[in-house]
Amino acid sequence: MAAKILLIALLALASSHALASDPSPLQDFCVADMDSKVRVNGFVCKDPTVVKAEDFFSTGLDKAGDTGKKLGSNVTAVNVNKIVGLNTLGISMVRIDYAPKGLNAPHTHPRATEILTVIEGQLFVGFVTSNSDNGNRLFTKMLKKGDVFVFPEGLIHFQFNPGHTNTVAIGALSSQNPGTITIANAVFGSKPPISDEVLAKAFQVDKKTIDWLQAQF
Ligand SMILES: *[C@@H]1O[C@H](CO)[C@@H](O)[C@H](O)[C@H]1NC(C)=O
Repeated sequence: MAAKILLIALLALASSHALASDPSPLQDFCVADMDSKVRVNGFVCKDPTVVKAEDFFSTGLDKAGDTGKKLGSNVTAVNVNKIVGLNTLGISMVRIDYAPKGLNAPHTHPRATEILTVIEGQLFVGFVTSNSDNGNRLFTKMLKKGDVFVFPEGLIHFQFNPGHTNTVAIGALSSQNPGTITIANAVFGSKPPISDEVLAKAFQVDKKTIDWLQAQF
């Protein structure tokens, strides 16, 4: 009896896990047909007889993104929008450049776990657990060249370059289209804005403070 309950619990866990990630492919590949008017979860497959090597290829990840903007970081994403062959494969990658003191601001990927390695410079990274699982616990680590860190699916995380030289990191994500929700932009920069009454209550500050924060986005 106990074994049966355990088995059912494990099966439930396994199936809920499968639902939380990109679905498994049902064929060798399903190269996205970006011109199709048909809407499905992901993209419709292009005729496999016209698929070419170029559909699985992109170039230029050796080039640094421009880190000149406010936050001093730049994410170059290689996802299904860049490599159409990634459709249904549940994987993508990024190059992230950080100027000295550059920040990849707190954000989440609603559809992917991220594994990241530093190939140049240094990086202070962290993520925060959900409310109930671990009570918003913060996990941080100082990374140097060659170090690897994991940000679990859906959790809020950030990366900061505390050094005086540029940092470069390469990340892999468990979705063809991980999505990014940058917390500050989503909360204070939504269009139309969330009412300052709601945000004042949520953040336990006065409306003027919220209006000022909203004006920054
Ligand atoms: C990132 O870098 C690219 C290439 O230099 C540039 O076109 C883009 O505007 C940059 N994005 C941000 C947010 O700074």
